[in-house]
Amino acid sequence: MAIFGLNGIGMDLGSMQTSIYLASEEEIVLREPTQVLVNAENMTDILCVGSEARAMTGRTAKDTELVSPIQNGVVADIDLTALLMLALAEKATGRKKPMEKSLLVTGLMGGATRVERGALFQAMNATGAKRTAAVLNPVAAALGAGVDISRPRGTLVASLGGGATEIAVLSMNSVVALRMLRFGGQSMDEAIVRWYWREKGIIIGMRTAEQLKREIGTVDADDVGADDDPVLLKGKEAATGRPMSLETTGLDVMRALEDPVRQLVDAMRNALYNIPAELAVDIHHEGIYLSGGGAQLRGLAGRLEKETGVPVNMSSHPREDVVLGLGMAASSEKLLNTLARTGAAELTAE
Ligand SMILES: Nc1ncnc2c1ncn2[C@@H]1O[C@H](COP(=O)(O)OP(=O)(O)OP(=O)(O)O)[C@@H](O)[C@H]1O
Ligand SMILES: [Mg+2]
Repeated sequence: MAIFGLNGIGMDLGSMQTSIYLASEEEIVLREPTQVLVNAENMTDILCVGSEARAMTGRTAKDTELVSPIQNGVVADIDLTALLMLALAEKATGRKKPMEKSLLVTGLMGGATRVERGALFQAMNATGAKRTAAVLNPVAAALGAGVDISRPRGTLVASLGGGATEIAVLSMNSVVALRMLRFGGQSMDEAIVRWYWREKGIIIGMRTAEQLKREIGTVDADDVGADDDPVLLKGKEAATGRPMSLETTGLDVMRALEDPVRQLVDAMRNALYNIPAELAVDIHHEGIYLSGGGAQLRGLAGRLEKETGVPVNMSSHPREDVVLGLGMAASSEKLLNTLARTGAAELTAE
């Protein structure tokens, strides 16, 4: 069970959610918001993290601020990220010093700069982990989705997260080509907020926008059927600030999502267009693998198929693929060494 004689911990530090896989348990043991509640007057005064942080917001005597230490897929605050990792690992393992004798494996955004990669390793080292490793997110996503990436064939994986979108061509355990967009599901929520403000004169919050996207949103016109019943939307009137409500439909949300979806489709077409010729045949035959929470957007798979002419395979657990892949790497010396050799992972020395 031990890897390099250590306890393997796979941790997916997403812009929105953090998940932990323990090699000793052989499963995902925790999934909580990537958020830290701090004292607004003293940002080093941490009150709580994860689900608790979200639940406590606005319910404390102190003036507090909810901080997301991971932004658009990369570490935005090293100290807070380290604290969050430690606190969640403590909860996941039930141990006071969870990183002692541990190998910590996180995901690294494909296309991250040297500085961003450095910040991730600094945060991991600050947790006190004995050894650390980072696996490229799309590689972890493919492994977690059960795709065999060791074959000498091309595989296209698109990971659609909350803060970042990564499209990668993989072959023989390595990344052959990569496209990365520093936007994801959160930008879709922003687009929804802007659209309702502009077109309907109503101001809604990001949480309401996300809820609309999940519950009635679609991005494929063929998907808006007769069952597109209106729902009541509550917000503030843009002109007066007074409470306001109106009826809206999936068709409205589809219009609101048109811009960001266009960008996504274009990035996908661009990635397909630039695939090395010898791998293009495999990919057109085998299809695109969609992963990440954003893959669950209704109509997206159909829309991508229509616009690229390439079949789309949906992972059966898109939000868990990355952490499952990291867990696999945190459970197997052989796999981790192979990935380190091809450049798909970075592993610190003993
Ligand atoms: N059913 C759904 N329909 C549309 N979008 C969804 C659905 N479920 C989740 N999402 C979106 O998926 C996104 C979160 O995905 P995920 O959990 O993969 O992100 P993350 O790993 O935290 O972020 P990142 O990988 O970008 O750092 C959110 O924007 C969320 O709104
Ligand atoms: Mg993610």
